[in-house]
Amino acid sequence: MAQLIDGKVLSAQIREEVKEAVSIRVKAGKRAPFLTVVLIGEDPASASYVKGKAKATAEVGIGSDTLVYDASISEKEVLEIIERLNNDPDIDGILVQLPLPAHIDERKVINAIAPAKDVDCFHPESVGNLVIGNDGFQPATPAGIVEMLQRCNIPTAGKHCVIIGRSNIVGKPLANLMLKKGIDATVTVCHSRTKNLPEIARQADILVAAIGRANFVTGDMVKEGAVVIDVGINRIDDASRERGYRLVGDVDFEAASKKASHITPVPGGVGPMTIAVLLQNTLKAADQK
Ligand code: GUN
Repeated sequence: MAQLIDGKVLSAQIREEVKEAVSIRVKAGKRAPFLTVVLIGEDPASASYVKGKAKATAEVGIGSDTLVYDASISEKEVLEIIERLNNDPDIDGILVQLPLPAHIDERKVINAIAPAKDVDCFHPESVGNLVIGNDGFQPATPAGIVEMLQRCNIPTAGKHCVIIGRSNIVGKPLANLMLKKGIDATVTVCHSRTKNLPEIARQADILVAAIGRANFVTGDMVKEGAVVIDVGINRIDDASRERGYRLVGDVDFEAASKKASHITPVPGGVGPMTIAVLLQNTLKAADQK
């Protein structure tokens, strides 16, 4: 039976570290770091993530503000808001929650964020620094996964890391992070057009599922002793729950945990780590000034 990688416990360690660093910063006479979150529209999952981010900042002494706009806001207005936030010296980090309504060009909005405030690590300059291996902001979900592996003393050097999913938020930045000097994994990225995906997945020492499909990774795709990281957060209708749904990952947990050496649960796995890295990035943004 696999050992559970507890994202709640590990993220609490990081949050405690950030809290301590913020406290030292404030005692030295500097102001607390400040994050502004922009939420556009009424996507319930986005609203829930944003609430979690605001709560987490408050708990570590980081200031935050959530600007909420109607889905009908124009792209021009959004770009003007970003410009204002870029020029506000009291704001260290800017996070525009994705996805955006269809009439707003996501790339244009991301490109408008000042790289020095890009705590999501989505701006092309931030992504470039990541690919080259320069110091900079860490992409939240990928860095959260690496923190999990390292804090559980799971070796990565020379290990075959198979990532299922090629998104700009998880798959692509995680591939770059796992390749970085010091982490040193051998990386394969699979996606919807990959041939023989189960066969490739079975070769993974570290298998990361970030494809956004409930129970996509079945037990037969997991090598005996593999480390399984489940990034999926899928809402499945469930009348027995008060809110009418439950969350499941991209991995068939029951089956995979019989073969894996370590596995992350959903919820309580990668999700909380993502927020912890966002806090690290916001502190970094403030300290870099
Ligand atoms: N939507 C889903 N994940 C993320 C994230 O990490 N950052 C932002 N801004 N939006 C998201």
